[in-house]
Amino acid sequence: MIDLEKLAALAVAYDAGDARRVQHFMKVYAFCRLLGRSEGLGEEEQNILEAAALLHDIGIHEAERKHGSSGGKWQELEGPAVAAPLLAQAGASAAQAEKIAWLIAHHHSFDASEDLAFRILLEADFLVNAYESALPPEACGTAGERVFRTETGRSFLQKMYLEKPYKP
Ligand SMILES: [Fe+2]
Repeated sequence: MIDLEKLAALAVAYDAGDARRVQHFMKVYAFCRLLGRSEGLGEEEQNILEAAALLHDIGIHEAERKHGSSGGKWQELEGPAVAAPLLAQAGASAAQAEKIAWLIAHHHSFDASEDLAFRILLEADFLVNAYESALPPEACGTAGERVFRTETGRSFLQKMYLEKPYKP
């Protein structure tokens, strides 16, 4: 099992001085934890999902440094290489690190897979981004139909952004 407490500490240290990013991945982690458990993920898949949540945006600083952009494409390109040593330090096996690298590298590609852990990571990231970017309700409604797969994720989306006029 990957040591998530250790991994979180490493991720916070990597993002030192960037409190906004830390707040973001901590929220995505919390939603992944809840959604994964509610949707019945197995213990190892849950562990992999939670590790991926902590590291999903870890490529952002390298993307900005190397490509001058925090665009999703560059983050996905740079993320896995930054994540690898942190995962090794937190005790991830090669197979676990490979799956997490894949999740990081595809988390802006909504059609990349129907794997449940992947869908949950997309949903959790969307639930947090919708708030942080003050997305209009129409965009949340569209995502609910096209991107979301889990009952728990749809319910959170509905309650936070669609059932009543929401205040960012
Ligand atoms: Fe994110």
